Amino acid sequence: MTALDTAVIPRHVAIVMDGNGRWANKRFMPRFVGHKRGVDALVRTVKACADRGIEYVTVFAFSSENWKRPEEEVSGLMGLVLVAVSKYLGKLANEGVRIRIVGDREAVSDKVREAWREAEQRTAHNDRITLSVAFNYGGRWDVLQACRRAIVEGVAAEQLTEARLSQYMALSHAPDPDLFIRTGGEVRISNFLLWQVAYSELHFTECLWPDFDEAELDAALATYRARDRRFGGVKPAATTMAVAALPVS
Ligand code: FPP
Repeated sequence: MTALDTAVIPRHVAIVMDGNGRWANKRFMPRFVGHKRGVDALVRTVKACADRGIEYVTVFAFSSENWKRPEEEVSGLMGLVLVAVSKYLGKLANEGVRIRIVGDREAVSDKVREAWREAEQRTAHNDRITLSVAFNYGGRWDVLQACRRAIVEGVAAEQLTEARLSQYMALSHAPDPDLFIRTGGEVRISNFLLWQVAYSELHFTECLWPDFDEAELDAALATYRARDRRFGGVKPAATTMAVAALPVS
């Protein structure tokens, strides 16, 4: 889809996939089962987004702070990367999904790094939708690494503009998110895309991530359509009408 009207369909949707653990707890299952079902929900959602003409989806899969979780859960999530890539990479590649990984890869194991490299390489030619998986990612880390890279490249202070710094951010391949969705009932950003969500429309839902489906996505899109995006300005039509209504003296 080209020349999409972003007032109707967001170009870029960012998602905090929260609630996997509670979904599993409610069913007396280990938290890991919730994460596994979370991967299914992710694959389903990417397809639904592509079907609706959304060009970019960015998901928070593992935050810089998630290392604080019990070791068993952390290694479960790392193992899930390998399972998810072997189970779903072919399907996503066939559906025209381009996969990008954003985050600090230094701390992850060679196996996980290799799985991510394979996912990116095998889908590099796709252009239907770009799925960016934030893994070992934090919004503050992103701002800091961007500043460091700019300094290393010798960018002078007076040359460092917002546009220039954006080029060093982990999501420089995507426009800023139009719509930010968080499932699981919490109402916070949790150090996700701090720089990029400056003007995103925020949508919070009680739905636990493994239950997220097309109806939930459509509800989020309906909320988005009802929003009046002004980016700090005023609506041109409203200004014109207000001026036209002034008495002429
Ligand atoms: C938050 O739920 C979810 C996570 C920390 C992990 C999200 C990961 C996935 C959906 C799997 C995607 C993984 C890959 C490999 C792409 P929570 O555990 O905080 O749930 P809770 O708030 O109910 O405890």
